[in-house]
Amino acid sequence: MIVTVTLNPALDKAIVVDKLVLGESNPIKDFRTDPGGKGINVSRMVVELGRKTLALGFSGGETGAYIVQCLKSRGVNHDFVEIEGNTRTNLTLVITDTPPATEFNSPGPEIHPAKLLELEKKILTYLPEASLFVFAGSLPKGLPADTYARLIHLVEVRGARAVLDTHGDPLTEALKETPYMIKPNRYEAEKLLGRELKTLDEIIEGACELKATGIKVVSISLGSDGAILCTDDGVYRAYSPKVEAQSGVGAGDSLVAGLCVGIIDGMPWEEAFRLGIAAGAATAVHPGTQLGTKEDIEKLLPEAKVERIDKHAVKS
Ligand SMILES: Nc1ncnc2c1ncn2[C@@H]1O[C@H](COP(=O)(O)OP(=O)(O)OP(=O)(O)O)[C@@H](O)[C@H]1O
Ligand SMILES: [Mg+2]
Repeated sequence: MIVTVTLNPALDKAIVVDKLVLGESNPIKDFRTDPGGKGINVSRMVVELGRKTLALGFSGGETGAYIVQCLKSRGVNHDFVEIEGNTRTNLTLVITDTPPATEFNSPGPEIHPAKLLELEKKILTYLPEASLFVFAGSLPKGLPADTYARLIHLVEVRGARAVLDTHGDPLTEALKETPYMIKPNRYEAEKLLGRELKTLDEIIEGACELKATGIKVVSISLGSDGAILCTDDGVYRAYSPKVEAQSGVGAGDSLVAGLCVGIIDGMPWEEAFRLGIAAGAATAVHPGTQLGTKEDIEKLLPEAKVERIDKHAVKS
């Protein structure tokens, strides 16, 4: 089972309009509400891919209750620690005339450290059933930058594998505990490494450098340009299918979900990577916070190309 942990979930609302005229009444073409936050997105995609998952995290107030209800109706198993504040709401504005989408993100409620202890207890309860733990998204107010480091340590000393998808100080701190896998996008990897990654060679070198710190699997995602995957078995480069992209929100989470499903199924890396790439592209096709469907993914899979790169061919 793939257990996801979302410390700062959100109710993601998306409004689609053809064009935006400020100060006028704009007709809404489409409107969606989705339970969100990066770990929750990963769980939603794992369900779409037909595998077992459980979403853990914090939920509070009316918005938290609504998220829980949405997850239930979509068949996503969940077990959240209840908090006092109200879970945040994020808004994505998609103007079809002028992509890309604009996001409005709220910080979310403060978490008392005692609630983290409660969550740690839950994590330990599910440990025997969990093949992979996915820690994803930003940290809420009230929790220190080493929170992910602490959670990774909690599960990894007990033999479980931790996947991490976050950015900034929480990512830098967490690397001290060498998670099993990380998936920064190019910008996040640049911040982490403290240098620009302009060429493909530089991106590959960056991924290999991160892997050399002890992380088993490093994927750097490149939006419509695909992604790089650095593993013990070699380095792989994926080309994403060409799609009419509407919104990249959740594409990275879908890539993480596909990779995780591949890992627990014991797929060869090429196959796991292709599944992740197809899932990411399938999500990019949909506006706002909607994720790709199983049918979209099956259609895109043959167009997701993965090739193995000889590490020695990378220019230094
Ligand atoms: N416009 C696009 N066209 C095709 N595939 C895409 C597009 N955008 C994203 N993808 C696919 O999804 C994967 C992840 O996307 P991206 O690099 O944008 O992740 P991200 O920045 O972490 O996204 P997020 O954190 O918002 O979920 C890419 O490697 C690619 O396979
Ligand atoms: Mg991301």
